[in-house]
Amino acid sequence: GKGEYDHYMKKEIHSQPTSLANTIEGRVEDGEVDLEALPAGSFTDVDEVQFVACGTSYHAALYGAQLLKASGVRTEVIRASEYDSASGPVDEGTLTIAVTQSGETADTLQAIREATDRGARTLAVTNVVGSTIARETDDAMYIRAGPEVGVAATKTFSSQAVSLALVSQRIAADVSHATPVDDLEEMLADLEDLPEHVEEILETTDAERLAKQYIDSEAFFFIGNGLGHPVALEGALKFKEITYEHAEGFASGELKHGPLALVTEQTPIFAVCTGGDDDKTKTNAIEAQTRGASIIAVSPDDHPVVDAAEVHLSVPDTHPVWAGLLANVQLQLVSYYAADLLDRPIDKPRNLAKSVTVE
Ligand code: F6R
Repeated sequence: GKGEYDHYMKKEIHSQPTSLANTIEGRVEDGEVDLEALPAGSFTDVDEVQFVACGTSYHAALYGAQLLKASGVRTEVIRASEYDSASGPVDEGTLTIAVTQSGETADTLQAIREATDRGARTLAVTNVVGSTIARETDDAMYIRAGPEVGVAATKTFSSQAVSLALVSQRIAADVSHATPVDDLEEMLADLEDLPEHVEEILETTDAERLAKQYIDSEAFFFIGNGLGHPVALEGALKFKEITYEHAEGFASGELKHGPLALVTEQTPIFAVCTGGDDDKTKTNAIEAQTRGASIIAVSPDDHPVVDAAEVHLSVPDTHPVWAGLLANVQLQLVSYYAADLLDRPIDKPRNLAKSVTVE
């Protein structure tokens, strides 16, 4: 049950220190990634990786794909529903990774079947053991987030992103044209502290106060660059999904290429500055501020964007690979409190289902 919480979503947001600890458990050994189901050498024949996913899982895939690309692995991310028209050439050197919490999403299942038909090797990164997609793929990696009841994906996004970060380094170590990140040991040491850092956010967050302050706004924009970009997209998706308010996420540099026309005093801008070219995010946020918008900085305390911002949501200091996931926890809380103020049916938003089994 929901226990002490008013909604499953809140319970699931608050369970992330535990669900993330489960995701990580036993998968980092002696400063290296150790995946039982995918031992060293599992990916030596891979020369290109495709991610297929929908919705929140697509955002987790964008996150993982950036890490893989940074290691030099040829990578593309395709919305599962677009797989037919948007995927590049596929052969036996292609690894197609389905990122899917439920393992039952029809669009993702269809993409995996198509990839299999075209000769790709397939891997499921999923929360549900024995799900259709886990059964139909060559291999499966379980994210171990525990059952998620709220329709809006929260803890599973965090566990997917961490799982993909680990898989990306496993792949990078095996693929001959790639090199794992050079500060892998540091990155993995900070990963072990991620559950504690989430706890710190849960105990200190200003999200509720911020939600009250901006609840009457006309629209809510989220911007980020690099790893901050998928976080901005996910922040906006969660916000629109459970508040029914207009929310959009953009790559920071794109704001001025059209969306800026929507900016007024009534449109706060969440600026996710957690690594990537954050100067770009800051500059574009200030462009919006000049048109009257408030900047809500989602960043470490010592980030220069904080001085420019009206409000700050704090992200504990950690490796940039994990900082975006902490920013995302702050944004989950903002969405939750905003939806609660608006008295929305948070766990079951209108028109949405937990698993989408139609194409
Ligand atoms: C948003 C949300 C959806 C799912 C999408 C894919 O909060 O939950 O966008 O992420 O329908 O679902 P899975 O991951 O089960 O394939």
